[in-house]
Amino acid sequence: MINTQPKDTCVLVTGGAGFIGSHTVVELLQDGYEVVVVDDLSNASEKVFDRIDQIVGDDAAEHLTFVRADVADRDAMDAVFDEFDIDHVIHFAGYKAVGESVQKPIEYYSNNIGNTLVLADVMRNHGCKSIIFSSSATVYGDPDSLPLTEESPKKPATNPSGWTKWMIEEMLRSLVVADPEWNVVLLRYFNPIGAHPSGLMGEDPKGIPNNLLPYVAQVAVGRRDAVHVFGDDYDTPDGTGVRDYIHVVDLARGHVAALAWMDGRTGCEVFNLGTGTGTSVLEIIKAFSAACGRELPYVVEPRRAGDVTANWADCTKAREVLGWQAEFGISEMCRDAWNWQSNNPFGYEG
Ligand SMILES: NC(=O)c1ccc[n+]([C@@H]2O[C@H](COP(=O)([O-])OP(=O)(O)OC[C@H]3O[C@@H](n4cnc5c(N)ncnc54)[C@H](O)[C@@H]3O)[C@@H](O)[C@H]2O)c1
Repeated sequence: MINTQPKDTCVLVTGGAGFIGSHTVVELLQDGYEVVVVDDLSNASEKVFDRIDQIVGDDAAEHLTFVRADVADRDAMDAVFDEFDIDHVIHFAGYKAVGESVQKPIEYYSNNIGNTLVLADVMRNHGCKSIIFSSSATVYGDPDSLPLTEESPKKPATNPSGWTKWMIEEMLRSLVVADPEWNVVLLRYFNPIGAHPSGLMGEDPKGIPNNLLPYVAQVAVGRRDAVHVFGDDYDTPDGTGVRDYIHVVDLARGHVAALAWMDGRTGCEVFNLGTGTGTSVLEIIKAFSAACGRELPYVVEPRRAGDVTANWADCTKAREVLGWQAEFGISEMCRDAWNWQSNNPFGYEG
């Protein structure tokens, strides 16, 4: 096995201006990696790079390069790989809004699958065959049993966004079958929430948030009237859906742990990244109310199509193999999300 040092290792982070990508870039720079971000800013603000500089300091920030480009633009990606000696790719770039994906399937399949195909081809042509892909617990669908291990079966997705995760996983597995030099890690995220503890970076969704936490945060800051709880008649302790929420900084550190573990390996491995604990929608509203010091109003609505009753992860494999486990709990996730939202009520552009 080659044991290279971070300072000798250049990581291309696609979608590195986004929510999870930006937090991962901070952790990589703090660990001493060279980082190149490619992002088309379709769902991000360039201002995030000033925030990254503030967090990591000027010396570490010198090791970061931002290229504004679409990952599906082959010429632009060829130029990136010609200019930088890229060792590994962490591939976040893609569209992620579940509801929007139902309305815009062509855009979702085209962007998520199309950009991954171009990326993999350009990587191969430049002799870089090491990639971490942002997958999702949605590939497990409605689980037969909990907690979910990496061996739990994949189930049909319920929307185009979920299908793209499902298919890209299979595409990347096929690369390893065809060419055993490929080194692929599929990270299945559970529900990333929270924000950087500095209050300088966080989730900044455009339009109406699709996910619970940014919605709750916008209610807390007065941008929206009440939280919508979709279904209170599920077979769970309080009737609302249960998910495994993970602090975005823990998730980001999971990528760095995976990268260190991958160095010099080949093959394909899957890891769940969660906390192993389920939390209900009402518990989240309560925890966020405690964080912001005010009871947040909510209204109960009918169940949403495609939502599962409950899921949470078994994270034993990540702990034993990668030496990684989540450190933050729900109260820290809500504290940091509130800190970010209250300091930046309208996100980066506010
Ligand atoms: N946030 C979640 O709940 C969650 C859960 C599971 C998986 N994921 C996956 O993790 C990844 C990152 O998620 P996120 O929450 O940070 O989303 P995000 O939208 O904040 O980040 C994605 C980034 O990719 C960029 N992008 C999109 N298409 C691009 C393209 N063709 N070329 C270049 N840049 C492009 C966007 O501008 C954005 O900065 C996504 O692939 C997402 O599907 C997210």
